[in-house]
Amino acid sequence: MSLVIRRLDQRDDVDGFDCGDDPLNRYLKRHAWNNQEKSAIGVTYVAVDEGAPRTVIGYFTLATASAPRAAFPPKYVRGLPQYELPLILLARLAVDRRFSNRGLGHALLSEALRISLRVADEVGCRCIVTDSYQDRMSWYARYGFVPIESAEEGPQRRMFLDLRTVRAARRDRSAGQAG
Ligand SMILES: CC(C)(COP(=O)(O)OP(=O)(O)OC[C@H]1O[C@@H](n2cnc3c(N)ncnc32)[C@H](O)[C@@H]1OP(=O)(O)O)[C@@H](O)C(=O)NCCC(=O)NCCS
Repeated sequence: MSLVIRRLDQRDDVDGFDCGDDPLNRYLKRHAWNNQEKSAIGVTYVAVDEGAPRTVIGYFTLATASAPRAAFPPKYVRGLPQYELPLILLARLAVDRRFSNRGLGHALLSEALRISLRVADEVGCRCIVTDSYQDRMSWYARYGFVPIESAEEGPQRRMFLDLRTVRAARRDRSAGQAG
């Protein structure tokens, strides 16, 4: 499989997408395009195989958000002003279950972090947050996401990752590869 991750296009085939979670399936099929092109409230990136370049097999959606400083563990916000902190919101991420456990989730999250770092270079934003299902938290924790308090109690739990940590890790990795 030769994976391509790119922005959602109107011609993409999303009808057969099934990640096993109805709200995540419905978002891609009914809302992702309008939210991206009409409402401008979230941009969706899709994973396709080069051999079937219109069939979506995974996706994520990015938007911006903010959260009160008090929501974060004190050690992460030491020295910051009492403002709402600007964030990138990883609003959705899902993989078609026919393609699970093949590293697609990893590839999607890596691309979401790459885009977030690029945005953070141009616009102030300290971290990326996501609202994770309880049973997916350990998957995000592998990448360094840490649970924080969120205003709404529900089946999901808000988790964050400091983009400075991501940047430092990528810098170390490329220095290691060069050395
Ligand atoms: C969670 C999700 C994004 C992972 O995508 P993926 O492409 O299968 O993940 P990857 O191939 O990159 O990673 C696979 C690894 O993650 C682990 N993993 C998969 N789902 C997990 C979960 N919910 N919690 C913890 N670990 C998980 C696998 O066991 C595997 O571990 P290994 O590397 O030690 O073998 C995907 O399963 C998904 O979209 N699920 C459906 C949507 C959803 O949220 N469902 C309900 C909640 S789980």
